[in-house]
Amino acid sequence: MSISELFRFNKKESQDQNCKKDLNAIFKPRGVAVVGASSTPGKVGYQILKNIIDCGYEGEIYPINPKDDEVLGKKAYKTVEEVPGDVDVAVISIPAPLVIQTLEGCARKGVKGVAVITSGFGEVGNVEDELQLKKVADKNNIALLGPNMFGYVYTPSKLNASFGPADILPGKIAFISQSGALAISLMGWTAMEKIGLASLVNLGNKADIDEKDLIEYFNNDDNVDAILIYMEGIKEGRKFLETEIKKPVVILKVGSSTRGAKAAASHTGSLSGSDKIYEGVFKQLGLLRAKTFTQAFDWARAFSLSLPKGDETIIITNGGGIGVATTDECESQGIKLIDDSKWLEEKFRKTMPDFGSTKNPIDITGGSGMKGYQESTRIALQEDRIKSVIILYCETAVTNPIDIAKTIVEEYKKVNRNKPVLVAMVGGIRTTEALHYLNDNHIPAFSEVSDAVSSLRALYKWQEISGRKKEIPKIEPAPQEVVDMIEKIKGVGRSILLEHEARKVLELCGVPTPKWGFARNIDEAIDQAKDMYPLAMKITSPEIIHKSDVGGVVVNIRNEQQLKEKFDKMMNNVSAAMPDANILGVNIIQMVEGIECIVGMSNDPQFGPVVMFGLGGVFVEALKDVSFRIVPFGKMEAGRLLNDIKAKKILDGFRGVEAHKPSIIQTIYSIQRLAPLVKEIDINPLITNKDGSFAVDARIIL
Ligand code: COA
Repeated sequence: MSISELFRFNKKESQDQNCKKDLNAIFKPRGVAVVGASSTPGKVGYQILKNIIDCGYEGEIYPINPKDDEVLGKKAYKTVEEVPGDVDVAVISIPAPLVIQTLEGCARKGVKGVAVITSGFGEVGNVEDELQLKKVADKNNIALLGPNMFGYVYTPSKLNASFGPADILPGKIAFISQSGALAISLMGWTAMEKIGLASLVNLGNKADIDEKDLIEYFNNDDNVDAILIYMEGIKEGRKFLETEIKKPVVILKVGSSTRGAKAAASHTGSLSGSDKIYEGVFKQLGLLRAKTFTQAFDWARAFSLSLPKGDETIIITNGGGIGVATTDECESQGIKLIDDSKWLEEKFRKTMPDFGSTKNPIDITGGSGMKGYQESTRIALQEDRIKSVIILYCETAVTNPIDIAKTIVEEYKKVNRNKPVLVAMVGGIRTTEALHYLNDNHIPAFSEVSDAVSSLRALYKWQEISGRKKEIPKIEPAPQEVVDMIEKIKGVGRSILLEHEARKVLELCGVPTPKWGFARNIDEAIDQAKDMYPLAMKITSPEIIHKSDVGGVVVNIRNEQQLKEKFDKMMNNVSAAMPDANILGVNIIQMVEGIECIVGMSNDPQFGPVVMFGLGGVFVEALKDVSFRIVPFGKMEAGRLLNDIKAKKILDGFRGVEAHKPSIIQTIYSIQRLAPLVKEIDINPLITNKDGSFAVDARIIL
């Protein structure tokens, strides 16, 4: 079995079960039952029914209440089974002890979607009942949201099955939130900010339906352009890793515990605080991670625009300062501004007074009125060469911002929204109105230039991600010789490989190493060292972990004479420091110069084996400049891992030393072969230079 198959989501059955579930029952139901619908204002079951009615749901609505014949003017039924018409989804808001039997009743009625609002399950330790809910749902092919959730909204069906506010602006963003309170509070905020939602789903305890199921549902839903997830943690890491990403998914992940790191014995393990692992997961899946929820919504909103068809961007402004600030921001975010001054002069000179500037940013100047904005916007939109447009505006007395906004909307409509246009406007109340007008008309508009630039950057990033070739990693298991070696070492009760064993194991798996040898005595050392000088010599003993501390490491041995002298001296030093140590011999390793890297593998409690890469020395010790990927991944992904680190420029050549990227990638890729056999690996350092990369020292823990 290949490594890729081995580390597939191991609850395949349950995954297949969820594939069969029809989430249309939840989002596009013909009939909705509210179990626990109440006539008493203030009760959850009252508010949910009221929201469903008030928000205009057009299907059938069935209140379920054991006492009342009518609730909020609708005929009520004692149980779901008594309802005469089709019920596709039931929203359950009754005390926890009654929920399982109600779900069974729903199953008998043929209900295919259920949202369990009720608390009192896994979140308070009642795991047993939560598992039972899942069991009943699976047995009957019911897609179950929750329990312990505040409900959900799906605006294309005008369905607000939540006890949150009723005012939601319809749009094309699907917002999936693990937190109920945050989602409720953001419902009002999104309306105020003119952010349109197609859906808002509170996941609750995720007994059944989770992020993966919803992303994959919204992948195929034309009502959704972008998905936004607020996440606190993932329940099934391996399942999440297999999510198919077809639309932009913006993720806001909070919490960065280092629980996983505490138990780790290796360097790699101690660097793998769970947030860094999540970061790796998101990158590997191609999710866009935002830092704040406003940024997350800014990005999600930007996906209503078409993607840029190239990288040449133009900035139009009426203010020099704001133009410079935006230029700086573009540079730091890697957005390329058109630089062809002759062409720009030719196209834009006519849009501004003589003292305006046609250098990008196109500065039509503060005195420019509507005409300047109209003409420059038109040219920017109509010229094919320009692939994306940022329009800036500082409020002045000679222009009304709402008129500028209207012009931009008009011109944009004329060209059929053919390229991304983002606007930043700075000013007072009139400017705020103009921003709302633009957002209402699906042109992302911001009061901060950095927000406009970061949203454009998100579009470029998604374009890069969506254009990636699909890569199916085919990682072969480690060779039999390695399996045998490891079995033998385990057999004698050791859990740490000796250095030469570790290097041998890595070499057999395809990791490049420098010339090296293991010698039991000086004669063997002399023999092996012939074409290796200059070399390093290290003592080998199962009892000696910190070799340097006992004089067990000598570097820069240049010839046979020095080798003999240093060998004798080392043996004397080590025997004096640790007289009882069982000395097996010495490792001799050719000295290699270059850039020091660290490559490692450790086991994350949530995601299983993970691979780490970073630069060595101060970069890893002080700056913790490392990045992770989850096994299994392919060579292209390994290449992207190299580009993650902040000091990546060093790999492109620094002080005349350049890295050999293919062999670093080979190393990162190959150690995955050991994932099922070992707990942790540190290759530290992996030295890279223009000729290749070399695992100079390695530590493997079983
Ligand atoms: N079928 C249908 N209706 C039933 C029923 C059944 N088997 N059993 C009881 N009901 C009715 C009740 O009679 C009541 O209606 P009434 O007001 O007309 O009498 C209604 O359902 C609600 O039951 P009640 O016992 O009053 O419960 P409640 O409204 O006080 O609390 C929950 C129910 C679900 C709201 C509560 O248990 C709970 O879990 N609250 C937390 C919800 C939450 O915060 N979720 C997470 C958000 S992030």
